[in-house]
Amino acid sequence: MNQDPAPLLQAAQHYLDVDDAAFYMPAHKRGKSIDRELQTLMGANVFRLDLPELPDLEEPIALAEELAAEAYGSDRAWFLTNGSTCGVQAMLLATCQEGDKILIGRNCHKAAIAGLVLSGAKPIYLPTDYLPEFDLDLGVSPQTLELFLHQHPDAKAVMLVSPNYFGVCGDLEKIAAIAHSFGIPLLVDAAHGAHLGFHPDLPISALQAGADLVVQSTHKMAGSLTQSSILHLQGDRVNAAQIDRALELLRSTSPNLLLMISLDVARRQMATQGKALLRETLRLSREVRSQLSQIHKLQTFSQIEVPTLDETRLTVMVNQLGITGFEVDQYFHEQLNVMAEMPTLTQLVFSLSIGNTQIDCDRLVVAFQKLVQDNREGGAKRRPLDYLITPKSLLTPRQAYFAKSIRVDLQQAIGRTSVESLCPYPPGIPLVCIGEEITGEVVEILQAILRSGGVINGASDRSLETILVVE
Ligand SMILES: Cc1ncc(COP(=O)(O)O)c(C=O)c1O
Repeated sequence: MNQDPAPLLQAAQHYLDVDDAAFYMPAHKRGKSIDRELQTLMGANVFRLDLPELPDLEEPIALAEELAAEAYGSDRAWFLTNGSTCGVQAMLLATCQEGDKILIGRNCHKAAIAGLVLSGAKPIYLPTDYLPEFDLDLGVSPQTLELFLHQHPDAKAVMLVSPNYFGVCGDLEKIAAIAHSFGIPLLVDAAHGAHLGFHPDLPISALQAGADLVVQSTHKMAGSLTQSSILHLQGDRVNAAQIDRALELLRSTSPNLLLMISLDVARRQMATQGKALLRETLRLSREVRSQLSQIHKLQTFSQIEVPTLDETRLTVMVNQLGITGFEVDQYFHEQLNVMAEMPTLTQLVFSLSIGNTQIDCDRLVVAFQKLVQDNREGGAKRRPLDYLITPKSLLTPRQAYFAKSIRVDLQQAIGRTSVESLCPYPPGIPLVCIGEEITGEVVEILQAILRSGGVINGASDRSLETILVVE
């Protein structure tokens, strides 16, 4: 297909000129009643194009999805306006029923845990490999998957995150072949991978590797508006009708047209200019890496150390400076207006994309130079916290979610079933998931992480003095 047209953009251009008497929703009627201050701030066209799913738009939407399927290399694509969160949940609902086993990477996003609650599936968590030198989650290895598939040949699907937050993709080709040799589909949460496949120096995309269902947050890495994502289907291991059914359950009946248009043009941009744009992003990212590696006590890594790394994701280890990534992040943000994607105890993760410029990258390098020059070095070197435990599963996520729960002191929670999933950063692997037993070891590790300044995502009581457990 010719990837130059953008059918939704064209439809929008047409609608801009239509002067209709609008008796359809939304209520602001193409901006006529919208708050004037907001309109001045954002421009009138945004509101003129905030249209519902008018019958005239059906065809351009279908065509835009067809073009996206071709550009990203799938057989069918669905535009999503509720992020990859919706896509991850749809993948689980389309492939698993109540009580079905699914093999799922322990580093899964909370959207997957929500999908497990919705579907009632029984997760068998796959441990991920860990590289202590860089405090780095390496994802699930093919060997681990094969081992677990032999132990659980009745699993209905495999779900993995690739790339992870640090840009590590793993050997998805091997992983897809293993899942398929057991006759089950591979579902990939590629929220961070919408740009993969458009430049030869990047790892191959999950679709190129042979995955059956893939969701990509186009907004994160490929130039569409926040909350817009695409779900892809490849091959016939999963039925398209099952996806339609799942999306019927999850999607809003009022998808935002502006988000859909942005998906259409992001696809066109990647298909027609992606290679050139990403070449420049990779150049910038390699230059920054090389400059940062000359700064005393900073450490980064590239495809030399981690072969399946997406090098547009830059992780800088600051633990040798004796300060935490959180402290550096605060200093950069408040003093220099340089904003990272994610700080952890030992690192800062920077997401470079086709939107970054040489000036951004120069500011980043200067920020690190200033950090070191300003004598902001702290005391003792920070040691990464590693833990390798997967607590016993007592209930499925769905059973635990719907069970009667009570709040107890953390110490009193030992031996009980967690209703929360607690995920410390680093390394971003849940220590305990909903439905699992809170052991003495879990409590000890949680307290050690908090003492060392780490952050635990998912805790309803951020101080972690108390926790929700099944009554
Ligand atoms: C691995 C992963 N999966 C899924 C999501 C959810 O994506 P979205 O924000 O597009 O809903 C995220 C968001 O950060 C993520 O990091």
